[in-house]
Amino acid sequence: ENESSVSITVVGASGDLAKKKIFPALFALYYEDCLPKHFTIYGYARSKMTDAELRNMVSKTLTCRIDKRENCNEKMDQFLKRCFYHSGQYDSQENFAALDKKLKEHEGGRTSNRLFYLSIPPNIFIDAVKCASLSASSGNGWTRVIVEKPFGRDSDSSAALTRSLKQYLTEDQIFRIDHYLGKELVENLSVLRFSNLIFEPLWSRQYIRNVQLIFSEDFGTEGRGGYFDHYGIIRDIMQNHLLQILALFAMETPVSLDAEDIRNEKVKVLRSMRPLRLDDMVIGQYKSHTRGGVTYPAYVDDKTVPSGSLTPTFAAAALFIDNARWDGVPFLMKAGKALHNKRAEIRVQFRHVPGNLYNRNFGTDLDRATNELVIRVQPDEAIYLKINNKVPGLGMKLDRSNLNLHYAARYFPFTLN
Ligand code: BG6
Repeated sequence: ENESSVSITVVGASGDLAKKKIFPALFALYYEDCLPKHFTIYGYARSKMTDAELRNMVSKTLTCRIDKRENCNEKMDQFLKRCFYHSGQYDSQENFAALDKKLKEHEGGRTSNRLFYLSIPPNIFIDAVKCASLSASSGNGWTRVIVEKPFGRDSDSSAALTRSLKQYLTEDQIFRIDHYLGKELVENLSVLRFSNLIFEPLWSRQYIRNVQLIFSEDFGTEGRGGYFDHYGIIRDIMQNHLLQILALFAMETPVSLDAEDIRNEKVKVLRSMRPLRLDDMVIGQYKSHTRGGVTYPAYVDDKTVPSGSLTPTFAAAALFIDNARWDGVPFLMKAGKALHNKRAEIRVQFRHVPGNLYNRNFGTDLDRATNELVIRVQPDEAIYLKINNKVPGLGMKLDRSNLNLHYAARYFPFTLN
C-alpha cells in the first residue's frame, strides 16, 4: 500500500472552483502529510499552458492554514513540483488517452489509484467522465470521480445525470461532494449534539422556537453569471449547503458514525419535510448601489448574465419538518449574494422561560430575554450562547451576555481558511 501511487486530475484546472478551493485544499492535504508518498497532480483544461504556467497560477492560490509559516514556502515549492498540466478537450478520448500516457510515466509501474475532480460546468460532466473512464482509468488500482453540484436542476435531471454517470462508473466510484460538510463547525455539529449532555435534551420543539440557517456574501456573481443564471441562489446555496446543515442539525441520533448510518438519518429528515409553499418564500435580486463612494454593479450589469434576467440572487424560506421532534418549528433559511457582509451561521432561538421571575427587568421586549445559540460557521468561527446575566453591583440590572467559544482564542495558532 505504501508503494501505491495516487494521481489526481483536476478537470477544469483554470476555473474559479479549482483556483478558489481545489488547489488550496490539495496543498493543505499535502502540508498536513495526508497525501501518499507517490502522488501527482494534473491540471486538465482546454487552454494551452505549460507546467510552469500552471504552477505559477496555482502558486497564487495557495495559503498556509497554520500561522507558523516556518517551512510553508518550502512546502509550497515541493508541492508545486508535483503539479503538471495537460491541455485537452473535455470530449476527446484521444486527449484523455494522452493524459493516461503521462500519468503512467509518473506512476512508474506502481499500483496506481486515480482520482478525477470535475471542476467543470455540468453540461460537460458526462463527456469528461466518459473520456476519463474509457481512456484514462487506472489499470491496476481504483478510479474515482468527484462531482460537485449542481447535480441537475430538479429530480428528473438529477436522476438522468446519475443514469448517464452509471454508464461509465459504478456507484462506489462516484463521490458527490458538498464542500460545506467539510467546514469545521459543520463537522462539529454532531460532536456538539451527541457528545455533550446539555444540548440534546433541548433539541426539539419543546424548547426551540425556530432555527435560522443564514448564508450571505458581500460580493456578487463577478463573472460567474454564466453558471449562476441557470441555477439561482436556491439551487446554488439552499438546496445543497443549507439543506445539508439542516439535515445534520435536525436528524435523530444515527446508529453509528458510518456514512450510511448518518445518511439514513438525514434522508428521514428530508422525507419528513413539508413541500415548500410559495407563501413561505421571498426572493429578490441585487441592484446597483453606491457605498463609500464606490458603485457596485447590479446582478444584471454582470456581462455574463443575460440582460433582463429574473434569476433570484436572494431567497428566504420557512421550512417545516413534520415529525415528532420538530412539529411546528420553522427552519428559516436565508441566502444571498452581494449583501452587506460575508457570513454563514446557524442561530437557534429558544422559547421564553415560562413564568420568568425577571420579566419586568426586560420591559416590554421579552424577546430579548430568550436564549440563543449561535454557531458561526464563517468567518471568525465561534459557538456562543446568549444568556441573561446580572450586571455586577447593587440593584438588579440584567444584561445579555455571551458564553463564547471563540475559535481564534481557543485554538490559536490554528486558524481556519
Ligand atoms: C459555492 C457556490 O457552492 O459556494 C458559490 O456555488 C458560493 O456561489 C460558494 O460563493 C461559497 O462557499 P464558501 O466556502 O466560500 O462559503
